[in-house]
Amino acid sequence: MGAKFKKMLYGGDYNPEQWPREIWQQDMELFDKAGINSATINVFSWARLQPSEEVYDFHELDAIVDTLTRAGKQIVLATSTAALPAWMAKRYPEVARVDYEGRRHKFGQRHNACPNSPVYRHFIQELTAKLAERYGSNENVVCWHINNEYGGECYCENCEKAFRVWLRKKYGTIEALNQAWNLTFWGHNIYDWDEIVLPNALSEGIPWQGSGEFGCEKTAFAGISIDYRRFMSDSILDNFRLERDSIRQYDKAAPVTTNLMGTYKGLDYFKWAKEMDIVSWDNYPSYDTPWSHVAMRHDLMRGLKNAPFMLMEQTPSQQNWQPYNSLKKPGQMRVQSWQTVAHGGDTVQFFQLRRSVGGCEKFHGAVIAHAGTDQTRVFREVAQLGEELNRIGDSIIGSGTESKVGILFDWDNYWALEYTSGPNVDLKYVDQISRYYEYFYRKNISVDMIPVDADLSKYDLVAAPVLYMVKEGMAEAIEAYVAAGGTFVTGFMSGIVNESDNVHLGGYPGPLRKLAGVWAEEIDALAPEQSNEIVFTDGSKDECGMLCDILHLEGAEELARYGSDFYAGTPAVTRNVFGKGRVYYVGTVLSENGLEKVLDLACGGAGITPVIGEETELEVTRRISDAGAVYFVMNFKDQELPLPAVFAGKKDLLSGRTMEEGEMLKKYDVRIAVLQ
Ligand code: GLA
Ligand code: ZN
Repeated sequence: MGAKFKKMLYGGDYNPEQWPREIWQQDMELFDKAGINSATINVFSWARLQPSEEVYDFHELDAIVDTLTRAGKQIVLATSTAALPAWMAKRYPEVARVDYEGRRHKFGQRHNACPNSPVYRHFIQELTAKLAERYGSNENVVCWHINNEYGGECYCENCEKAFRVWLRKKYGTIEALNQAWNLTFWGHNIYDWDEIVLPNALSEGIPWQGSGEFGCEKTAFAGISIDYRRFMSDSILDNFRLERDSIRQYDKAAPVTTNLMGTYKGLDYFKWAKEMDIVSWDNYPSYDTPWSHVAMRHDLMRGLKNAPFMLMEQTPSQQNWQPYNSLKKPGQMRVQSWQTVAHGGDTVQFFQLRRSVGGCEKFHGAVIAHAGTDQTRVFREVAQLGEELNRIGDSIIGSGTESKVGILFDWDNYWALEYTSGPNVDLKYVDQISRYYEYFYRKNISVDMIPVDADLSKYDLVAAPVLYMVKEGMAEAIEAYVAAGGTFVTGFMSGIVNESDNVHLGGYPGPLRKLAGVWAEEIDALAPEQSNEIVFTDGSKDECGMLCDILHLEGAEELARYGSDFYAGTPAVTRNVFGKGRVYYVGTVLSENGLEKVLDLACGGAGITPVIGEETELEVTRRISDAGAVYFVMNFKDQELPLPAVFAGKKDLLSGRTMEEGEMLKKYDVRIAVLQ
């Protein structure tokens, strides 16, 4: 278990430095009315704390801390290092990043510092130490929030030099590096460490093969680009560590975190979580994000440390940065917050407490709107939730989750799969993982999102869709798990490469071939308008597409075959007995129904059961506390749905009422009950 708060924090980002002092007092009164017991401060105030290189000025932050302390609010104290002060960018241009196109940025925006700039590293340590020295002993400072939403990348000369040092440490010799990156391809052999350049638009990027979140998604040498991703994640993590250690010199007690972003691609969050006392994250679904996707991200954030997490940010009403920033409908923020708690959230925090008067976030939702009153729908909903959390939140804090299903998630795999050129540009890692998660979500089967080095023996079923990269030791671990009776589900584009993105020779799925009992001789790629037919052994038919493995059985039995094309009649989905366990191999992208059929079979065989016996379209999620199992029953569907019978006669903790058989839950309704 990670850090545990005494009270469930309810609050969020608060920027009083943007407001005249008379507003602060009004804020404190409004926070009380809303049941808000905490505030996250100092997230973007570096330029106010250090107006020039020589001058630090804490009088304003002193006053903010003092105001909140006197109001009895718990403080999440941020370190302000996520946006550079103008003087620093002017005096030391090296602190600004160089982008994928090779352009050195000027002063502007945020999340803009080069992680390998010695100047930036010096200043963050100095500032953070001063903050911790000054505020670390304040009992109301219950948590440190380092930087903000770390991410992005830099391609400057300092990063290039640091990359070479990182590689030297990893590979030792230039020969080992040449081999790992397979540099004889296109004669890119390197004879000196200084010949290594960063993989961007000026070097190995393939701009004409689609573009992604990180400039260009495709690269001539995935080995180089994956190492660059690892290096950049490590470089930024070093920044986090520098700040954390500066804080630790003065404050040994309060947990240290930084706010993560779910399935954000750029950082290896499993590695990061090892350095964090508690995981926190920002949940910003858009108007059309499926609720299962939100649930999966919560589970992933819980999985990072296998412990409850903080919800550092969500909007009480709308965002400003999405294309369509629809309002949260009445009840939606409440149910979204309870869903967070249901999946392991131990805090509920907003961005932001007061809506800003200017800047690009002036249309971002807030607890206190521009009208400045408590007479708004949003405020009333925040206050209702505040009352509920205050009443029952604390009994839930720290409670765990029990899952018999694990889904593997791996950032190395994420990078490698999406850097790879071919066979199908539509193949996206998180999409494929989500399709599996969605099945378990629909069935109310509890899932842990787990790293590839997790202890698999805790699980009865482990799913590893598109496990493209199988690193050293992984196949052996999976074999031991299955041999002992575990059920393993994998499929197309799995077992293909090693940690350097070089192919495991000898036929796909490489090191998983023995386990799966199949050989994938070829992989067909289908365009979005193309499909194949899938015929299950019971005769039922369905569609499949995107990728079709052409399989040979090597001990496995066929569960479904292809219905068309030159490989019609060959196996598409298989099951293999391995030791005491089973391995399912799904050789193509099945429809939702098709995947359900296969996973029903796999779950049935593995004895997987949902958190309640009754089938329902409601989301039912469970946390296990000392007082018993707490069940969260939530309606995310458009239609009213009946309460499952198991809750009849039980007390709904939210309303205090005894629930009745057959009572209906409207859209966004929530019930919480404890079953022994
Ligand atoms: C992110 C940031 C916040 C704010 C919100 C707006 O999560 O961390 O500072 O910009 O987005 O949604
Ligand atoms: Zn840099």
